[in-house]
Amino acid sequence: MSDRPIGIFDSGIGGTSIWREINRLLPKESTIYLADSKNAPYGEKTQAQILELSIKNVEFLINKGCKIIVVACNTATTNAIKELRASYTIPLIGIEPAIKPAALHTKSKTVGVLATKGTLSSALFNSTSELHANGIKVLEQEGTGLVALIEEGKLYSDQTKELLQRYLKPMLKEGIDQLVLGCTHYPYLIPLLKDILADEVEIIDSGDGVARRTLAVLEQHQLKVGASKTTVEHQFYTNVNPEVLKTFLSDVNGCYRVDYLDF
Ligand code: SIN
Repeated sequence: MSDRPIGIFDSGIGGTSIWREINRLLPKESTIYLADSKNAPYGEKTQAQILELSIKNVEFLINKGCKIIVVACNTATTNAIKELRASYTIPLIGIEPAIKPAALHTKSKTVGVLATKGTLSSALFNSTSELHANGIKVLEQEGTGLVALIEEGKLYSDQTKELLQRYLKPMLKEGIDQLVLGCTHYPYLIPLLKDILADEVEIIDSGDGVARRTLAVLEQHQLKVGASKTTVEHQFYTNVNPEVLKTFLSDVNGCYRVDYLDF
């Protein structure tokens, strides 16, 4: 058992969609969330840059006493998790686009994946896609510009709507019935996505799966919070103005802090 917090990092605020799922499944666990918004989007960076930033984030969370780390960023997972696992003994949980469930559910045998350039071009994404999408057409679409708009809090702006129309219409024409959200920022676009997608297109994100994997890893390493721990604390750090991150958490009940940190 361990009362130390779960560490979570993302290139920015998108990973709070994963934090929510973890908090829903493991409400007694304390967390520390690191939003590296100053360096978002990771998806436009080179693999070496993504690895360097990921190392910095992991070391920050280890120094804060975290017991496990969730890499709540598809781009960081697909570009850096192998190297991180080789360098650190702390358990690391990653997040990859959920091609497997999409391939299992599709009836039209056509699946869309919306993700960053960094994720779609990574070796890990391509090997996963080949493994699970046997006989299924996988249409990949870079979501260029979307992360930056979300980071600016412009979720429902005309610009966001226009980009989504531009990215989704070709996939709809090709007959997708599953849309995989391959970036942890994108679940915040689900209301807009639903407006554009036909009812028969299922939207798949990885949040629930990552939360369940987090639980399994805690159990495997006997790191679940002790029964006697009564206080739960959630600390969020961001290296930009914290007000935007706060708006993404405005519906969250319970004890949490959001602080600016110069890192
Ligand atoms: C990004 O920083 O480009 C997006 C993060 C992600 O891939 O989940």
